[in-house]
Amino acid sequence: MKNIVILISGRGSNMEAIVRAGLPAKIAAVISNRADAAGLKYAAQSGLPTQVVDEREFSSREASDAALATAIDRHSPDLVALAGFMRVLGGEFVRRYSGRLVNIHPSLLPAFPGLHTHRRALQEGVKVHGCTVHFVTPQIDHGPIIAQAAVPVRVGDTEAILAARVLQQEHRIYPLALRWFIDDRLAVDNGVVRVSGADAIQALLADA
Ligand code: GAR
Repeated sequence: MKNIVILISGRGSNMEAIVRAGLPAKIAAVISNRADAAGLKYAAQSGLPTQVVDEREFSSREASDAALATAIDRHSPDLVALAGFMRVLGGEFVRRYSGRLVNIHPSLLPAFPGLHTHRRALQEGVKVHGCTVHFVTPQIDHGPIIAQAAVPVRVGDTEAILAARVLQQEHRIYPLALRWFIDDRLAVDNGVVRVSGADAIQALLADA
């Protein structure tokens, strides 16, 4: 059975969706860079090992990345899932987990990398917005796309309303994308993810 380590910084609703999905894998640990991350409570209540590695306690990015890697590697992860982990990771860290480090981002990448994606989507007047699960590369919010879900942007949407609509889809596609990884259905070909199995796209569209 594959080991998954989930990294969070706050609320942890994506982590919760992954746990609730009952994936055929072991959630080996939930690690946060903030001791007060609300998601840690749910993880602990679910019987999952938790740990905090706060980068502010280290003198450099390299040192905190190394401490984080030590905490992660204790669990021999096959997959490291960033779930609202709001910290930029160094190139060395990213390369260490190359091909087994995934992230969810609240936009249809490559549109709107970075912060405040919903606000920026509203400012740009896009008519379709959404979320992306992707393999992580040293470039921020960039990397081979595993899954995406789109939502309409409606007249009268506020940042909060749009965020909630997207988040609902995040909770659907993140566990799905992780299941594909666990089932060895993902291959990266020239920066493009191929999902084996004819039902992959159907699964994404089914209850969109
Ligand atoms: C989610 O919307 C996630 O996509 C986003 O932070 C939120 C975390 O919520 N991640 C990023 O912006 C990463 N660039 P959660 O803690 O409830 O899962």
